[in-house]
Amino acid sequence: MKFFIDTANIEQIQEVNDLGLLDGVTTNPSLIAKEKKGFRELIEEICGIVDGPVSAEVIAQDCDGMLKEARHVAGWADNIVIKIPMCPEGMKAVKTLTAEGIRTNVTLIFSLPQALIACKAGASFISPFIGRIDDIGYDGMELVGDCVDMINEFCFDSEVISASVRHVQHVVQAIQLGSHIATVPYAPLLKLFKHPLTDIGNSNFLKDWENAGLGDIL
Ligand code: G3P
Repeated sequence: MKFFIDTANIEQIQEVNDLGLLDGVTTNPSLIAKEKKGFRELIEEICGIVDGPVSAEVIAQDCDGMLKEARHVAGWADNIVIKIPMCPEGMKAVKTLTAEGIRTNVTLIFSLPQALIACKAGASFISPFIGRIDDIGYDGMELVGDCVDMINEFCFDSEVISASVRHVQHVVQAIQLGSHIATVPYAPLLKLFKHPLTDIGNSNFLKDWENAGLGDIL
């Protein structure tokens, strides 16, 4: 499973990229708005850091407007993926962009029929929003599993991005369900390295070494 980071923050992206962990980045208008920088400046900077797909979302709500924005933004860097919201106009745009060789990520997917429509339109990526489904009392991970099964059953080329990830357990389940990608915010992403038994084990190893008077290795 690939790891994307779900942020537009340059420092966070740089830090996680330096760990050698980063396969891509997803942004959305809310994440861009937090950074107080121009859209193009930010996206170009992110694309320069990360060797992998960087999702940038359109704002237009009609197909023609989406296509204009998408073609413009796709010209900023080779690794840009155009994020398009799930809606009829959006799926028309995805079909055209796919034919033009521009990769797309269909966002705001909350049901299996929406996922099927996005795959049929030719989306490179589909993004079921796990956390927001959990928020209203349903099981977001169930949708991820259904999307993976559907893609395998019908041999679509689309990849599932488990999105709206809130905690480590979402990542565990994404791995178990065969999600192609999980896009994870900075804080839970760093928590993936941690386990209390790892910390205890490491500290005990060092204590035993010290108590035996073994000294430095070098
Ligand atoms: O990738 C989608 C993500 O940005 C939405 O996350 O936490 O706002 O539901 P959240």
